[in-house]
Amino acid sequence: MAIDQPATRPANPRFSSGPCAKPPAFDLNKLSGAALGRSHRAAVGKDKLKAAIEETREILGVPADYKIGIVPASDTGAVEMAMWSMLGARGVEMLAWESFGAGWVTDVVKQLKLDNAIVKTAEYGEIVDLASVDFANDVVFTWNGTTSGVRVPNGDWIADDREGLTICDATSAAFAQSLPWDKLDVTTFSWQKVLGGEAAHGMLILSPRAVERLESYTPAWPMPKIFRLTKGGKLIEGIFKGETINTPSMLAVEDYLLALDWARSVGGLEGLIHRADANTKAVADFVEMRDWIDFLAHDPATLSNTSVCLKFTDARIKDGAGFAKAVAKRLADEGVAYDIGAYRDAPPGLRIWCGGTVETSDIQAMLHWLDWAFEAEIAAQTETA
Ligand SMILES: Cc1ncc(COP(=O)(O)O)c(C=O)c1O
Repeated sequence: MAIDQPATRPANPRFSSGPCAKPPAFDLNKLSGAALGRSHRAAVGKDKLKAAIEETREILGVPADYKIGIVPASDTGAVEMAMWSMLGARGVEMLAWESFGAGWVTDVVKQLKLDNAIVKTAEYGEIVDLASVDFANDVVFTWNGTTSGVRVPNGDWIADDREGLTICDATSAAFAQSLPWDKLDVTTFSWQKVLGGEAAHGMLILSPRAVERLESYTPAWPMPKIFRLTKGGKLIEGIFKGETINTPSMLAVEDYLLALDWARSVGGLEGLIHRADANTKAVADFVEMRDWIDFLAHDPATLSNTSVCLKFTDARIKDGAGFAKAVAKRLADEGVAYDIGAYRDAPPGLRIWCGGTVETSDIQAMLHWLDWAFEAEIAAQTETA
């Protein structure tokens, strides 16, 4: 039965999983201090890049002996430069349970052609058997699977005495979930995700063991300049002090600094986790009260608190993909939820970004509209049957 439209609209209808909503206090005028038209190698530019690194360290609690670099090509660039620079020294296990993890598998199997790669995959909604991982190998995995809404529950499954390196794509986890630095040798993320920054630059965080690998191992394949982290067998330290490999956007840097300021203002990492958890709880409360929608994640222990993926479970729905698309379109057309259709390679459904830049009141307002859109679409489907 069709129902009336809710009276309240979200103040901000942006629920995209990347680029994600800007912090609530965002205003373009606040970027007026950007070092535009100045060299990123001049003191003014370098100081800002250095500040971006050090403030990242402070908020995420990255240990002092870990290196943090700003690198080209967003999270993809950071993950690929790590894999191209470090893999091949020993066996590798690739863990994937959604499309981004699957992309890293393709890199290793089809591009780097590492014939000793062990590939472990799980279907959307599930996670691989983490207990089966052999840490004599290097291990590549995605902390939070953005397209399935499934994350690793914690880092307890990672061996403290591992011989291999852990390479972790944490782009939709950093600033929303607690990352155990002692378990992670390479960690990557991009500015466009949880803090709602601009795309373009990636963050590459290296443990001392990762640096040791870089300085002791030279891969057999050629290394483009954009991936080069060492020179003459030594780490290029400048990259980790703000001397970027190539030219960064100083506008994007300013925007990231602003996002970090905002992150501090809401209580830093703890505050950000709390905000993402509260948003996810609002969705969970909604799901629990309805018999026509459910999480894609099967196990609550692996339910993401950022990229929350939902599936429709109503038996009346005939064309699952068409139905989900039509619901998302109704919400976008009403201006109450943008970009919440499931990722193109994921099962049909919705994906609602719950990271800290999103206000819980907006999630709640949007969910009332989801009730409306669902009933309207069921009614429309019945009419055309
Ligand atoms: C888990 C994961 N890895 C990698 C990427 C690619 O990120 P970028 O486009 O910033 O390189 C994304 C983007 O959504 C992602 O969610």
